[in-house]
Amino acid sequence: MFSLPKNATIIEVGPRDGLQNEGKLVQTEDKLQFISALQKAGFQEMELTSFVSPKWVPQMADSKDIVAGTEKMGRQFVLTPNERGINAALESGAQSLAVFVGVSNTFNQKNINKTTQESMAALKPLVLDLKKQNVFVRACISTAFYCPFEGAISPEATIDLCREFVDWGIDELSVADTIGMASPKESYDLFTKLINEFPEVLMTAHFHDTRRMALANIVSALQAGVTRFDTSAGGLGGCPFAPGATGNVATEDVVNMLHRMDIQTGIDIDLLCTAIEKIEPYVTNPVTTGMYTLYKNRL
Ligand code: HMG
Ligand code: MG
Repeated sequence: MFSLPKNATIIEVGPRDGLQNEGKLVQTEDKLQFISALQKAGFQEMELTSFVSPKWVPQMADSKDIVAGTEKMGRQFVLTPNERGINAALESGAQSLAVFVGVSNTFNQKNINKTTQESMAALKPLVLDLKKQNVFVRACISTAFYCPFEGAISPEATIDLCREFVDWGIDELSVADTIGMASPKESYDLFTKLINEFPEVLMTAHFHDTRRMALANIVSALQAGVTRFDTSAGGLGGCPFAPGATGNVATEDVVNMLHRMDIQTGIDIDLLCTAIEKIEPYVTNPVTTGMYTLYKNRL
């Protein structure tokens, strides 16, 4: 039977995942205008920026100013790869942190310059300490289905990595199809297993739309019981260290689909499109998503 929830939570990742891969540097003030317009559209959870090395991801070099310039509202995540990033994020006033690790060793090496095991060994004391301080910690699990270098990832490997984080007391798992290769069947199967294994944590699905399967994957994740989705306004984004990773699934198209299925999100699609209008002049590619195109053509 097709059973659906009444509500779903959208975590807007455009200011972080959406912009991190953008070749042209976007001015801090323009990012802040985008974030402020997104807030007006109703997002209660958002990834704002990353405290990563500016040598690795130049677009995120203004993370401190982004946190300082953003009105505090709901849950605002910043990504942190290491102790230096965590300390800088806490000093900036961030209260919700996201750590990130790839199931695939090769991807993790290219993204964080460590094997998955080295990353986990380094993160463990840091995450335990954050939890002692009552900081909300989200763990982003990259290459949970496929890796651009290693190919298919076994569900057991993803579940084992998630279990380590859950044992440390993290609050949320954001499980990612980094290169947009998972099928709706794989999405249903993995999220069913994850929800059965870890009912105590918030479970979020993070789909990139490389092969245009993300909306279908969201429907099958909903069927598995997931009610939280990372999405990016305008479908912007991708990981600079995952060849072939295009944008995240577009927030406006996901919100429209959910609303049409009588699943409420609290997001106003017109206001969301005005937020996209603010950032579109500063990104390389025109935004061509379904709902934004209709909005632009006033249809
Ligand atoms: P490294 O080169 O091994 O680190 O990089 P290092 O300790 O040798 O430091 C190199 C330089 O960076 C040094 O500066 C450090 O001080 C500095 P230098 O002495 O050469 O002038 N540094 C920092 N600066 C600012 N903030 C920091 C920081 N740490 C060191 N936190 C490192 C290791 C982790 C730093 C690097 O690999 C890095 O920054 N990686 C981030 C990569 C990234 O942001 N990827 C995208 C996010 S993940 C993603 O998009 C996937 C996701 O969306 C889910 C999905 O779709 O899969 C979440
Ligand atoms: Mg991503």
